Amino acid sequence: MIRFAIPSDIDSIMVIEDEAHPEGIRETREIFQERIEHYPEGFLVTVKGGKVVGYICSELWEVDKIVPGLFALNKSIRSRHTFTGNTHYISSMAILKRAQSLGLGRSMFRALLDAVPVTKRVLIVDLNKTRAHRIYIDAGFEPLFAIRDFFTPVGQAPYFGLVMATKS
Ligand SMILES: CC(C)(COP(=O)(O)OP(=O)(O)OC[C@H]1O[C@@H](n2cnc3c(N)ncnc32)[C@H](O)[C@@H]1OP(=O)(O)O)[C@@H](O)C(=O)NCCC(=O)NCCS
Repeated sequence: MIRFAIPSDIDSIMVIEDEAHPEGIRETREIFQERIEHYPEGFLVTVKGGKVVGYICSELWEVDKIVPGLFALNKSIRSRHTFTGNTHYISSMAILKRAQSLGLGRSMFRALLDAVPVTKRVLIVDLNKTRAHRIYIDAGFEPLFAIRDFFTPVGQAPYFGLVMATKS
């Protein structure tokens, strides 16, 4: 089942986030909490067997041009989100490992696009996340540009973030 996130989902969301990303790339509890409280219409969770096993969150931006300076991890949703924004920014998505490869990520992504009917959309992804890329490409996203050293995992070399966007 896919539903909108509620504040009490936060513990489950943080378990998923901690498992999905290494230290240095993870976003904080406060950042996710704020996203749920400020724009729950752009935040979905997947529930399986009564447990939250996946999340996807987003913001609406009012922008004319997609430029590298727009992107940052752990940035407050209040800094750019506007409820009438023309661009849907998908800020994060993950499925718990034990629930991966069942089609849940693809369905949750699709459900978010349906829930937020804005045609111009953008996201930033790790170049190595081929599974996520496939979901994005199938939904009409195309590579726009890469940002050097965007992801900075603790104890590892930093790596590129790939910005992908839909055409319209
Ligand atoms: C990306 C992610 C959300 C996808 O969720 P998922 O539920 O595992 O994905 P799905 O089962 O919907 O599969 C999506 C596609 O991934 C590919 N895929 C799925 N399982 C795979 C596997 N075991 N090996 C390789 N590719 C696989 C398939 O191409 C699949 O497309 P298909 O439906 O045409 O077969 C999940 O892998 C995840 O949380 N990864 C870690 C965090 C992450 O990468 N987040 C997004 C970018 S920051």
